Amino acid sequence: MSDSVQIVNPDDSQIEFVVQVQTDFLNSKHMCCLIPLGNCESVSEKTKQLNAVSKVSQTSVRSYAGLALDSSGRPLGYIQLKGHGMYCDMHKVKPGEVHVESLAVLPEARGKGVGRKLLQWGEDKAKADGCSLYSLAVLKGNPALRLYERFGFVKKEADCVEACMANMFVLCCFGRPYGCCDQHFGAYDMEKKIEPGAVEGVTMDRGGGA
Ligand SMILES: CC(C)(COP(=O)(O)OP(=O)(O)OC[C@H]1O[C@@H](n2cnc3c(N)ncnc32)[C@H](O)[C@@H]1OP(=O)(O)O)[C@@H](O)C(=O)NCCC(=O)NCCS
Repeated sequence: MSDSVQIVNPDDSQIEFVVQVQTDFLNSKHMCCLIPLGNCESVSEKTKQLNAVSKVSQTSVRSYAGLALDSSGRPLGYIQLKGHGMYCDMHKVKPGEVHVESLAVLPEARGKGVGRKLLQWGEDKAKADGCSLYSLAVLKGNPALRLYERFGFVKKEADCVEACMANMFVLCCFGRPYGCCDQHFGAYDMEKKIEPGAVEGVTMDRGGGA
């Protein structure tokens, strides 16, 4: 299936899908100080507003977003990258680094190589932008970890203070995302070293937007 999948920067008509996938993913997990916010109407409205604002004001954000389309142009998933100097949820992006801020594929399209293709698109973009580090964070217990390891991402070592802070942070923001009895706590930061350089057919346009 992934052979027929094409990755493009989302246009105005596709922003709605990006907002929807992002909101669905957040709605299943999002909490604040252990209070579930998932079904809170104002949160999804807030998310929509924020995305709408970034749509009009930040060309750069759009050029760092990849939307996977099937052969009939139907959106299947998307990836949002962030580069140095761009606002990024929960991560400060260093010079020479491109960070995966979010990655999601529609439930019915999972397990068919779309996620991997989006990750590869992001890596190619990062190389074309002259970066040498590709990074992401993943909650412990998320099956996506296997995909990332197979793709070449390596878990960063965290000392016990960092690990403890991460556990508290994840607990407050996401509660127990994989169930109260799940054995996992916290999140992994993962990195992949890459060789910067031109990639055929790939350009990185920071757009000059705010
Ligand atoms: C993680 C995700 C983007 C992967 O996309 P995908 O198109 O299913 O990925 P691929 O088909 O390229 O690779 C499949 C691998 O992804 C992983 N995976 C994670 N969740 C999966 C799911 N629900 N179904 C199938 N595979 C999944 C597995 O490692 C799988 O490999 P395996 O079959 O050998 O175990 C997708 O499952 C998803 O949207 N999950 C929910 C959102 C999420 O957790 N995003 C990551 C935040 S860090």
